[in-house]
Amino acid sequence: MGKSKALYTFSFLAVYFSFCTITPTSSTSLQDDFINCLHENTNVDFPLLETFFSPERNVSIYKEVLQSTAHNLRYVTESMPKPGFIFKPVHESHVQASVICSNQLGLHHRVRSGGHDYEGLSFVSLMETPFILIDLSKLRQINVDIEDNSAWVQSGATIGELYYRIAEKSKLHGFPAGLCSTVGIGGHITGGGDGTLLRKYGLAADNVLDAKIVNADGKLLNRAAMGEDLFWAIRGGGGGSFGVILAWKLKLVPVPETLTMFTVTKTLEQDPETKILSKWQRIADKLVDDLFLRVMFRVAGDKTLTLEYKGQFLGEKGTLMEVMKKYFPELGLTQEDCIEVTWIESVLANAGFPIDSPLEVLLNPKLSPYVKVYFKGKSDFATEPIPPFGLKGMFKKLVEENTSSMFMIPYGGMMAKIPESETPFAHRKGTILKIHYATNSTSEDGISLNKRTKWIREMYSYMTPYVSSNPRLAYVNYRDLDLGTNTKDSKANFIKAQTWGAQYFKNNFNRLEVEIPTPRHENNIQNINYFTKVLSASDTNKKGSFVLNKRHAIECLPLLVQWDESATIPRPDKVSPWEIEPLTHSSNILKSVFLKNKRQSEIDDFGK
Ligand SMILES: Cc1cc2nc3c(=O)[nH]c(=O)nc-3n(C[C@H](O)[C@H](O)[C@H](O)COP(=O)(O)OP(=O)(O)OC[C@H]3O[C@@H](n4cnc5c(N)ncnc54)[C@H](O)[C@@H]3O)c2cc1C
Ligand SMILES: *[C@@H]1O[C@H](CO)[C@@H](O)[C@H](O)[C@H]1NC(C)=O
Ligand SMILES: *[C@@H]1O[C@H](CO)[C@@H](O)[C@H](O)[C@H]1NC(C)=O
Ligand SMILES: *[C@@H]1O[C@H](CO)[C@@H](O)[C@H](O)[C@H]1NC(C)=O
Repeated sequence: MGKSKALYTFSFLAVYFSFCTITPTSSTSLQDDFINCLHENTNVDFPLLETFFSPERNVSIYKEVLQSTAHNLRYVTESMPKPGFIFKPVHESHVQASVICSNQLGLHHRVRSGGHDYEGLSFVSLMETPFILIDLSKLRQINVDIEDNSAWVQSGATIGELYYRIAEKSKLHGFPAGLCSTVGIGGHITGGGDGTLLRKYGLAADNVLDAKIVNADGKLLNRAAMGEDLFWAIRGGGGGSFGVILAWKLKLVPVPETLTMFTVTKTLEQDPETKILSKWQRIADKLVDDLFLRVMFRVAGDKTLTLEYKGQFLGEKGTLMEVMKKYFPELGLTQEDCIEVTWIESVLANAGFPIDSPLEVLLNPKLSPYVKVYFKGKSDFATEPIPPFGLKGMFKKLVEENTSSMFMIPYGGMMAKIPESETPFAHRKGTILKIHYATNSTSEDGISLNKRTKWIREMYSYMTPYVSSNPRLAYVNYRDLDLGTNTKDSKANFIKAQTWGAQYFKNNFNRLEVEIPTPRHENNIQNINYFTKVLSASDTNKKGSFVLNKRHAIECLPLLVQWDESATIPRPDKVSPWEIEPLTHSSNILKSVFLKNKRQSEIDDFGK
């Protein structure tokens, strides 16, 4: 087997190289160099047909692989920069080799697990060309150890697969992560990962026991080897910043045999004074931890809204009815609204499947009801209820755009018990709810895209007085480049990152941040290579790299002072309601990259 694979690889290479000598291009020689370098750095075969994809090899297969898990269609349009080639490691050593070889060849790489990044950062680089894509979708092994209440999960697996593998072995174990089954484990946990069990058990990142990461030297490190500082940073500090996570060891959590789910739908006419929604805002984060009750706002055709109150309770119907009667009778929940389910059935329902679907639907991304759309999302956190007049304005704004949707989910419970500094995810005590805004469309239409982008920015602006401020907080897993991005200008990045970084991480940003000399990612905290330099320069007896990072930050003090002096720049929270935010620098980056990209036609042209 190994022999034939090797033979195959060799003969392919022969064909490949002869092709290259006929039409040499810079991108093909980079591919050769990369492949040769991989061979030098791993002993494990990587049959090129299954692992290596480029427009030169086969444009239609390349396109298919690139688009396979790219969730946001806005980032697969023709004008978007495309990776020069895609490598799909089939062994952990291939990831190490990829990192080593990217460094050696000075190639910028993006890492993709599930491809659900809101701004496509796992497969599009708006700032570095050429770039390549390391796609982890073939590293998706899951080993559930029920005796140990734990599971090792490789980054390329989806959360749907994880839930399925747990349920395969136990009815009484679960894991607190997100709702949509196609989200990748790799990216999800790096940003926190919240779902219907968050009030009981916190985030996915709060339930990580160990991890395997490839650092920028290509070294494979587990928790003990990486040290507690890096282990802290990867559990919520955002994807693509600290190395390539190969696998997570997760702590499974107990779930009861019977859960209860319900949906109660209210029209605006049924709650004209927003009494029910106001009450929900006051109590949803304070209810028993077993109850997770969210609200989805849906635009109905005739410029009105419906509000869906969706509940999930870790217990039986009778107990839930008592809780609701005592704390939230205004909702008018009845026995008939409730359905008793197993945990894995709740997973199906939350992922948008009918509750009686075969569990295997969780393994097939093509069946997911969360279809791919052209999409823009934003987030907010609130520390106090939005007053009725604020809600009414929000409704008015929401129905202006029929491609919009919004939801609010309660925090509190375990989320409030975990200290803010425990992980980089800082939205803990005092945060009563998270707001998600989105607008989507199934077709690429420039005019309507502009209209929708304008709409979501206006909505965000309108909400300013009602949500967190100084800084206005956002969820890094709902990445939003409107808040700010890195550019090639590293000194300016360091200053600008203070703003967007604090929005995602509050004070935890200070522990994450270092200057980024050559940014690798529009929103990353640390240059992956730089990070290693810091690591390898560090006295290994010292607890970790962040000590040295701080020293570096002090060297940059003049920049910080400069920032203080220019603090008159209006922060997002100072923008008055209804004022449309100016286009941010991110759109300028887009423009310049488009121009640059035009010259890259060979790589970028999909050969329509
Ligand atoms: C339809 C949909 C539903 C969602 N539902 C939820 C939800 O219920 N709860 C929630 O909390 N979030 C949710 N999200 C947000 C989701 O958690 C984030 O988009 C997450 O980053 C996706 O992970 P991924 O592996 O699919 O993404 P990718 O796009 O592959 O990666 C995201 C980022 O992480 C980096 N990255 C990827 N893999 C690795 C790795 N192995 N090591 C280091 N960096 C890596 C990428 O470079 C990129 O920067 C949802 C998103 C979508 C599109
Ligand atoms: C590319 O792959 C497709 C699908 O396997 C195949 O039909 C097509 O002939 C290939 N094209 C080239 C140029 O090899
Ligand atoms: C949304 O509104 C546009 C007109 O502004 C209309 O063409 C479209 O059909 C509407 N879509 C839905 C889903 O109501
Ligand atoms: C897109 O928006 C519509 C209209 O608000 C909504 O019904 C639908 O669920 C959204 N789709 C996705 C995949 O987000």
